[in-house]
Amino acid sequence: MCGIFAYLNYQVPRTRKEIFETLVKGLQRLEYRGYDSAGIAVDGPKKTGNEHNQNTICLIKKTGKVKALDEELCKKDLLDLDEKLFTHFGIAHTRWATHGEPSEVNSHPHRSDKENEFVVIHNGIITNYKELKAYLINKGYEFESETDTEVIPKLIKYVYDNRENEDIGFSTLVERVIQQLEGAFALVFKSRNFPREAVCTRRGSPLLIGVRSEYELSTEDIPIQYNNALFKEGVQEKNSHNRADCSSDIDSVGDGRAVEYYFASDASAIIEHTNKVLYLEDDDMAVVSEGKLSIHRLRRKVNENPVRAIQTLQMELQQIMKGNFDAFMQKEIFEQPESVFNTMRGRICFDTNTVILGGLKDHLKEIKRCRRLIVIGCGTSFHAAVATRQILEELTELSVMVELASDFLDRNTPVFRDDVCFFISQSGETADTLMALRYCKGQGALTVGVTNTVGSSICRETDCGVHINAGPEIGVASTKAYTSQFVALVMFGLMMSEDRLSLQQRRLDIINSLKMLPDLIKQVLALDKKIKAIADELYQQKSLLVMGRGYHYATCLEGALKIKEITYMHSEGILAGELKHGPLALIDKEMPVIMIIMKDSCYTKCQNALEQVTARSGRPIILCCKDDTDICKNAYHTLELPQTVDCLQGILTVIPLQLLSFHLAVLRGYDVDFPRNLAKSVTVE
Ligand code: AGP
Repeated sequence: MCGIFAYLNYQVPRTRKEIFETLVKGLQRLEYRGYDSAGIAVDGPKKTGNEHNQNTICLIKKTGKVKALDEELCKKDLLDLDEKLFTHFGIAHTRWATHGEPSEVNSHPHRSDKENEFVVIHNGIITNYKELKAYLINKGYEFESETDTEVIPKLIKYVYDNRENEDIGFSTLVERVIQQLEGAFALVFKSRNFPREAVCTRRGSPLLIGVRSEYELSTEDIPIQYNNALFKEGVQEKNSHNRADCSSDIDSVGDGRAVEYYFASDASAIIEHTNKVLYLEDDDMAVVSEGKLSIHRLRRKVNENPVRAIQTLQMELQQIMKGNFDAFMQKEIFEQPESVFNTMRGRICFDTNTVILGGLKDHLKEIKRCRRLIVIGCGTSFHAAVATRQILEELTELSVMVELASDFLDRNTPVFRDDVCFFISQSGETADTLMALRYCKGQGALTVGVTNTVGSSICRETDCGVHINAGPEIGVASTKAYTSQFVALVMFGLMMSEDRLSLQQRRLDIINSLKMLPDLIKQVLALDKKIKAIADELYQQKSLLVMGRGYHYATCLEGALKIKEITYMHSEGILAGELKHGPLALIDKEMPVIMIIMKDSCYTKCQNALEQVTARSGRPIILCCKDDTDICKNAYHTLELPQTVDCLQGILTVIPLQLLSFHLAVLRGYDVDFPRNLAKSVTVE
């Protein structure tokens, strides 16, 4: 939710136009996180007064997508776009509204006062904002927006205004402010009182920093500076400014030579500038002053890593470009032959039929001893758990619970030390899943992350885990992450069952089928034209039912979710076994219904459901196995799919529904990658 991007050029001459372009491009890369409104804050022209020239900050905000902001920036004639700025710090934000409607006044950056003394961008939610707001209003501070965020710049100004004679630095101010905040946040601060200085921090929302320099960096491991240590030794706290200045070279990155810093909610906004990044941990505060980046924390935690390493990103720019496709979602659907292959790469040895998930192997014994597996996620990630539950039960011979993170938390579900809890998340930042993870950790269970985002919170906070390696997923509607999560969970089952004699033939069938999977996915993708033709017939409908059972119940749920989230049609995934307990009442010749009937153990039962549908004049569109004439003769339309082992068939049945939802959305005139009211990464509960 919400995208944060900021850019600091130190001793690197950039025109204002170039700075705008960098900020806008950064926001565009993050737009999938929120696209209600966008805004930036940059240095404005100096105000000439009687005593001295005063720094100013210029705020430009616009409702709608980043494109609208970009157009607005081009119109700004009060700023000289050709002016070269050797050192400058600009901040930018794209919003997904939580408090207050999308409007210019509610969009970020938010400011401390009409003079823009402090400005801030925020991703997350401040849960105690009402109390803080009441306090600040009482102190005479005026609020202009309905947001929770606005308390932050007001609070920093309050601390600054009440500093009395204290020589207080920017980072100290921020430190004092965040101690008052509850909730989740990633924050970047800019101030006209501390020009060319940047302070950012996070708790619960992601934030990383990219570093670009022509020179070799002074260090790639930045030791954390513990601020309380300064107090303990009786050393007077120095203002942030001085603190960074005083630090020795190994305490910070940058040595006063030309350097650029990029601050972002995720790596996709940074990769085109640099592959050197530093992921901030919760409660880290990063400060850039005089071109030097240092990391501060209030106090040291037990067993805490005392350094933050600058890592080299493996991501390629091409991975986050649309290429020849019309939408990221479409590109990601068509990437699935490669993305599932990448999930398996280096993990399955097809010669020896062995599967090794490096991140889990040291914990395998413990997992095998556990009482039950609890697999937790939200939305599509939850569906991946539903899709693999049956095969996990079979291969692990353990009881497997699948849980929606929010409901799991609402119920205070009993969790024990001998439980193993899996957290499935593409982004690795979903608040509900993260909360469930912290809850399970607190109960002493072993926690396992299955994520697509290296360095994400879930990835860092779990005891062990698997990266699904699907590559960046930008489309809000999750597609390739689902199939890769599916494959990763099946691989886990295979790894667990390696020494089970009775399961060897089953394992072999699955491993052989995994080998064929990328080719079979290509065959399904080749049905795109036929699927488009079906979409041409359906796109004006109001409702669409998706029915199946057994291994395909998850496909029904996931297909219906895809349809509703990007086409805004009503869609329901129905367990065919439940048909006569209610949903059958919906069936008539008008109601579009998709049925999934593959040749597996549920085949006969599905045929019965089909008869019940056709007996009520229903006109089903059926996903079935190639050349299944029995089924085809009862269908209104069929999509014949290649067959694979039952437990992997769900990967092949979901793809036609991904494609169908894409075509329906395009035909209905909607922006596929930016469905209304949604955002890619749901970092609020
Ligand atoms: C899927 O298309 C959705 N956009 C959504 O349901 C998503 O899967 C859910 O919010 C969970 O996200 P995560 O995988 O990043 O945790």
